[in-house]
Amino acid sequence: MDKIRIGVIGLGQRSGFTKYWHQPNGGRSIVVAGADIDPARLNKFRERVNPDADVTLDYQELLQRKDIDAVVITTPDNEHVKHAVEALNAGKHVYCEKPLAITVEDCDRILDAWQKSGRHFMIGFNMRYMNMYRTMKAIVDSGEIGEVKAVWVRHFVGRGSDYYYHSWHGNSANTTSLLLQKASHDIDIIHYLTGRYTKKVTAFGGLDYFGGNKPNDLTCLECSEKLICPEYRTGPLVQCAFREEIDVEDNSMVLMELEGGIKASYLQCHFTPDYQRNYTIIGTEGRIENSEYEQKVFMKTRTSKTWRELSDRVYEIKKAEGSHNGADPIICEDFLDMILLNKEPVADPLAGRMSVAVGCAAAESMRAGGRVVHVKEPEPWMSGTSPRLMDV
Ligand SMILES: NC(=O)c1ccc[n+]([C@@H]2O[C@H](COP(=O)([O-])OP(=O)(O)OC[C@H]3O[C@@H](n4cnc5c(N)ncnc54)[C@H](O)[C@@H]3O)[C@@H](O)[C@H]2O)c1
Repeated sequence: MDKIRIGVIGLGQRSGFTKYWHQPNGGRSIVVAGADIDPARLNKFRERVNPDADVTLDYQELLQRKDIDAVVITTPDNEHVKHAVEALNAGKHVYCEKPLAITVEDCDRILDAWQKSGRHFMIGFNMRYMNMYRTMKAIVDSGEIGEVKAVWVRHFVGRGSDYYYHSWHGNSANTTSLLLQKASHDIDIIHYLTGRYTKKVTAFGGLDYFGGNKPNDLTCLECSEKLICPEYRTGPLVQCAFREEIDVEDNSMVLMELEGGIKASYLQCHFTPDYQRNYTIIGTEGRIENSEYEQKVFMKTRTSKTWRELSDRVYEIKKAEGSHNGADPIICEDFLDMILLNKEPVADPLAGRMSVAVGCAAAESMRAGGRVVHVKEPEPWMSGTSPRLMDV
């Protein structure tokens, strides 16, 4: 295979990162086509990624093309299952954005199609490729904070109305819950850092600020209250943040018990003034905590009668080029390594399924007054990475 030829389904905001795969001069891949149901997105995609890309309103046309080796899925969450299963059945390698799907059953359908296809599959967990979380993972794996017993995550989603309440994200029919749509990254990072999956959860949450009784078709641009509304936006996303159909919580707190008895908490709020993720990981010999604003990880050690207690340390996170703190160009290369070199991806497909399973369990608990909900266990066949060495 000369270069991996890539087609993209869903040409909205996220699809811009596929430019890292478009390497016509000397690289290992090229983006040749895109599909979207919205005609306005087709030219925009060409402008952002490849002016010569073939574009279509019919994604099946793209899937039928024999000259396309791999498909990238950047459609809304509730569409992932359809596009991923059909792409795998069409014999394509697949990169699917997070969350894998919006129900555990749909995740399992994707994993089943992946196993039967013999093709390569990757989930878009780009946080695993950020230097911040790579550093935290390396510290945990080095044993310097001892055996991990607790993880606390505070997620301040201060631009909540910009991304989540002016568009399809605010309705549970499209996302199930923002504990999948937004937190799927963080639940995954908790699993990644500890090396363990969640067994059971309890959660509380509510729609405490967004949502309301405004008509579903109201937009900021035509709203009579735009001069006084704190959530007035000029675009690109302009659906009213206080409309009736909004039914996903904006203030959620999840407690999790992981394999091995590790305890974790994840707190998400969409009306904070700031945007950041704060992780604390506590082991038997110390703890680490990150600061996204300072781009640092602080390590504190406790009296342990080992050499480690002698030093507390501060890690300065190196700046990396590219979107999402440099993670996007690296995850794109990892996708190519997976296909061309049969390299194990940093996140396996089961990781995608497990973060959805925890998000669904937490949403169920939250909507049942905090009842303890057990996470749906994976089947043994779901483990592992690529099913077999591909002939490329
Ligand atoms: N990993 C990350 O950092 C990251 C960041 C942002 C978004 N995402 C994920 O990317 C996905 C897309 O998010 P977005 O912000 O780009 O949304 P978006 O609404 O901007 O784009 C989605 C696009 O899909 C198109 N679409 C909808 N149904 C379709 C269909 N049946 N066939 C073809 N096209 C269809 C829409 O017209 C739209 O252009 C989501 O799953 C989201 O969770 C991931």
